[in-house]
Amino acid sequence: MVGKITVITGPMYSGKTTELLSFVEIYNIGRKKTIVFKPSIDNRYGEDIVSTHTGFKVSAIRISKSREILDYIRDSIDAVFVDEIQFFDLELVDVVKELVFKGIDVYCAGLDISYLENPFETTAKLLAMADEVIKKKAVCEKCGEHRATYSYKIIPNGGEIDVGGKEKYIALCRKCLSEIKKQEVIL
Ligand code: ADP
Ligand code: TMP
Ligand code: MG
Ligand code: ZN
Repeated sequence: MVGKITVITGPMYSGKTTELLSFVEIYNIGRKKTIVFKPSIDNRYGEDIVSTHTGFKVSAIRISKSREILDYIRDSIDAVFVDEIQFFDLELVDVVKELVFKGIDVYCAGLDISYLENPFETTAKLLAMADEVIKKKAVCEKCGEHRATYSYKIIPNGGEIDVGGKEKYIALCRKCLSEIKKQEVIL
């Protein structure tokens, strides 16, 4: 038996973690054995949980290197879930391959691009390998339309890897981002 790879991606607030956790629930209702991982760098909501922006939480194992996932894999595991894949090293790609060849389904969620619009490499590679890609959109915080594909950093400091929420980032659609960029040039 072989597993399948599902990647959920999009900007901040687009519901990536919500969708990931809804898949966890589906497996759990079906009495399947699941395990959830997150990168140790993400300390936003407490140490050993994955949480959505609305506060829905599940227990998770915090790891700093992708390889550590393999230390937790037992024969009984049916599905592995990884949130914030953009923060993981590229070895996640090989780890995911190893898991699916063991017959385990793998669900990954994470940002496609940074606020500087650079693709996150680990997400990009996993998207290329996925059996299913779920690309989510957020509500644009300027025009209110459900077509935001960008995460905009309100105060552009702190670097490309910078954990945070609404105090740092908002979701924008391309039209509103382009308008803001024009204003930035004038200022
Ligand atoms: P992600 O992991 O993609 O950042 P979450 O699943 O954690 O997203 O959170 C999604 C939730 O965030 C939505 O259900 C909604 O309640 C809330 N939210 C806050 N801002 C927005 C926005 N701009 N667009 C859509 N949802 C938003
Ligand atoms: P989220 O997609 O679940 O909202 O989480 C995204 C995390 O990534 C959040 O901690 C902010 C962080 N982040 C960066 O480190 N760099 C970026 O360029 C962006 C857009 C977000
Ligand atoms: Mg999330
Ligand atoms: Zn907009």
